[in-house]
Amino acid sequence: MREVLTTEMMGKGTSAAFREFYGVPQEQTADPRRVSSGKLSVLRKHPYFVDLTPEAFEQLCRYAKHTVLKRGTTIFSKGDPGNSLMVVITGTVKISISSPDGRNAILNLIGPGEVFGEMSVLSGQPRSADGIANSNCELFVIDRREFLPFVRSQPSLAMKFIELLCERVRQTSDQVEQVILQDLPGRLASALLRLSDKSEPQGRTITITQQELSEMVGMTRESINKQLRAWAAHNWVRLEHGAIVVLDAAAIKELAEAGVDEDG
Ligand code: CMP
Repeated sequence: MREVLTTEMMGKGTSAAFREFYGVPQEQTADPRRVSSGKLSVLRKHPYFVDLTPEAFEQLCRYAKHTVLKRGTTIFSKGDPGNSLMVVITGTVKISISSPDGRNAILNLIGPGEVFGEMSVLSGQPRSADGIANSNCELFVIDRREFLPFVRSQPSLAMKFIELLCERVRQTSDQVEQVILQDLPGRLASALLRLSDKSEPQGRTITITQQELSEMVGMTRESINKQLRAWAAHNWVRLEHGAIVVLDAAAIKELAEAGVDEDG
């Protein structure tokens, strides 16, 4: 199976392209009117779409194509045209950039209920980063040609997307601040807090590998492991296979704010 969904295929219409590319059975990407109400409730309850009138919501449902992706699938690459907007139903999507010599930096992990791909859809500019399925994922995919006229007809939805773009800028400036002003433990603590804010249950268990954390905060995997083990010895975190459980959020917050080194 090829690993990349080409932009040419995306141009053919996202749902058909995904289906053709992955051999996904028709029912898995069927017209969302036939998608279970549980999945549609992700859209209905979504803070961006919750205020839409029933008619506008029905219109949005006609545009949203349900898609299933395998872990590791490249959804788009930096520089591709932005043909579609995505909403994550289940799973996690990794937003990352890579250098020609193979180094990788993770900008964000996008989880259930979150939107991605809005920057190039709204601006008409190429994709600003790579989007890769970090686990098996279910997405709603909305074609740009349908989304743009829709968002123009819904001023309150346009405002929500302005807020999202402001949030992206804020997050990016926070990351720059952390890289320039914080020491390594402070950066790691900030990343754990950011990730735990959006994790389930109760914002404590973060599903992430130490390699991914290293690509997110710009520390070696060995340094990440050493630091996490020191924090685990204090009972501030617990290390699990492929996950980190934050046991003492107040202690981690203190580290993030102080940016101080802590070797246990
Ligand atoms: P787009 O540029 O269309 O494709 C890549 C997507 O990744 C982008 O839209 C945003 O949805 C998301 N993205 C890009 N940069 C960041 C960032 N710094 N933090 C979080 N998400 C980002």
